[in-house]
Amino acid sequence: MKLLKNLILIGFMGSGKTSVGLKLSYRLQTPVEDTDKLIEQREGRTISEIFAREGEEYFREAETALLKEIKERTYARIISVGGGTPVRPQNRELLKQCGTVVYLRVRPETVYERLKNDTTRPLLQCEDPLNKIKTLLEARKDAYEECADIVIDVDECNTDQIINILADRLNR
Ligand code: S3P
Repeated sequence: MKLLKNLILIGFMGSGKTSVGLKLSYRLQTPVEDTDKLIEQREGRTISEIFAREGEEYFREAETALLKEIKERTYARIISVGGGTPVRPQNRELLKQCGTVVYLRVRPETVYERLKNDTTRPLLQCEDPLNKIKTLLEARKDAYEECADIVIDVDECNTDQIINILADRLNR
């Protein structure tokens, strides 16, 4: 199966965008890109450093600028974007214009279990990460759903199962 337009993976931190993107890339023989990684490469520093030195707004500007670039491309890729990308209305429009948007929907408890020892997500380095995950997810859920062409509930699925569900939905 050759991708005719970008396949964009959105979802909260820990929803599996990176793992699904990598495995899908192998299955479809199509390169995958991760906007967090592209921003880190361009900035020559980690997301945590960018948040600490420049603040979240600076990072959000970088995300929007990158989506504008992706929109102008003439080739298709699998692209996973940061969990906060769809929060900006402008980004939701850009995501839709960039390709088919797949939302990996996850419950807060699953995110917490997966990320409780993670130190690379600045937004979750706080006293009560589970509560922060619940609050952020609640605040973002409409934004994710608004720009999604396909929604997959991932809590009970491994990566292969998610990809099979996705392949099925894409073929419909
Ligand atoms: C963020 C998610 C992260 C990264 C940054 C902010 C968010 O990406 O962009 O830490 O606001 O949810 P992942 O979803 O890939 O962890």
